[in-house]
Amino acid sequence: MSLHNKRILLIISGGIAAYKALELIRLIRKSGGSVTAVMTKSAHEFVTPLSVAALSENKVYDELFNLTDEAEMGHISLSRENDIILVMPATANILAKMAHGIADDLPTTLLLATDSPVMVAPSMNVRMWEHPATQTNMQILQDNGVKIVGPDEGDMACGEFGFGRLAEPVDILTALNDYFSKGKILAGKHVLITAGPTHEPIDPVRFIGNLSSGKQGYALAAAARDAGAKVTLITGPSNQELPIGVTTIKIQTADQMLAAVSNALPADIAIFAAAVADWKVAKYSDKKIKKQAGIDDKTLSFIENPDILKTTSNLTKDRPQIVVGFAAETNDVLQNAQAKIKRKGCDLMVVNDVSPQTGIMGGDYNQVSIINKNNQNIVQLERASKAEIATQIIKYIGEL
Ligand code: CTP
Repeated sequence: MSLHNKRILLIISGGIAAYKALELIRLIRKSGGSVTAVMTKSAHEFVTPLSVAALSENKVYDELFNLTDEAEMGHISLSRENDIILVMPATANILAKMAHGIADDLPTTLLLATDSPVMVAPSMNVRMWEHPATQTNMQILQDNGVKIVGPDEGDMACGEFGFGRLAEPVDILTALNDYFSKGKILAGKHVLITAGPTHEPIDPVRFIGNLSSGKQGYALAAAARDAGAKVTLITGPSNQELPIGVTTIKIQTADQMLAAVSNALPADIAIFAAAVADWKVAKYSDKKIKKQAGIDDKTLSFIENPDILKTTSNLTKDRPQIVVGFAAETNDVLQNAQAKIKRKGCDLMVVNDVSPQTGIMGGDYNQVSIINKNNQNIVQLERASKAEIATQIIKYIGEL
């Protein structure tokens, strides 16, 4: 889910489901959005402003008169400084006021004064929902461009059954996400990304690893998220900050990475940016290997790890539409990469020279070329930050 940097003005009206606003605030924040909440007077009967403030980490507004900056028309700025206004739960009463332009408290005044998009999640008894007055009001709201999520059908707090149940917080989150993703280049696509090194254990305290930091893969995950995709990031050990609004799965070894990739499929696009160890030790020792007197050299035997990129490229079922590999080379860069795209069976290969003097491995900058299996046409990107390179790679993939 990507609500990165989105500001949600959440109006909580007084329904029995108001407590679910707490869960929704948590989900929005986890997805990278921020929440400023406004509560109707009756919402206070169902949920406390203290809990709402604690979860949103923002001041909660309730009465028109409480606005400290009312002299500067605080209700006007509150109604404008957001990316969407969400009314959740929306009672029959507040929906009726919205439909008819009644502004008799802070929430309804904000709703009348705003030029932001508005979304409502109705919640009420089935008879109230089915009442012609409510249905007429919903039609008016829809005609006015208000987005509507739910209500669901199910058991009600009052013991009846039918339509009127508040949509689940996760479904409201999805509706917000869909709204903000609309028109973006990867909207509605699932993008799977591998990143970082893998660690192949030798014994309980030692492993074989490599210098990959995970920076490029994490930057790709953030760029795909910003392009509207649902992103699954499968990462080896890395101390990069986890990107918000991305499903992250942490693994250690190549075998675990392959299993996580298989579990995360189907995906529309798979990008293999991880520096996977090519080998693992043939025999893991479950006890720490000790120095042995008189033996001054030690030999470890290795066996090959599964090739995750190749395995995914050659899938007959659930093969992603676009499979992208990375070729980290230190010599004969383009020739090696051209051979590699054929060997691996992927659609695109992002190639970089990772010789120590380039500072790319572990560094903040990258310089890459993109090879397309269909046209051997090589696109060279200028040296840039890994974040900028990620944006350009995602744009290239999106345009395909
Ligand atoms: N890759 C993978 N699984 C492996 C090895 C590599 O998925 N076991 C992927 C990497 O994520 C990358 C691509 O394959 O997208 C190429 O990785 P690289 O290390 O450059 O290639 P190798 O196949 O290991 O070839 P070599 O080391 O011989 O250059």
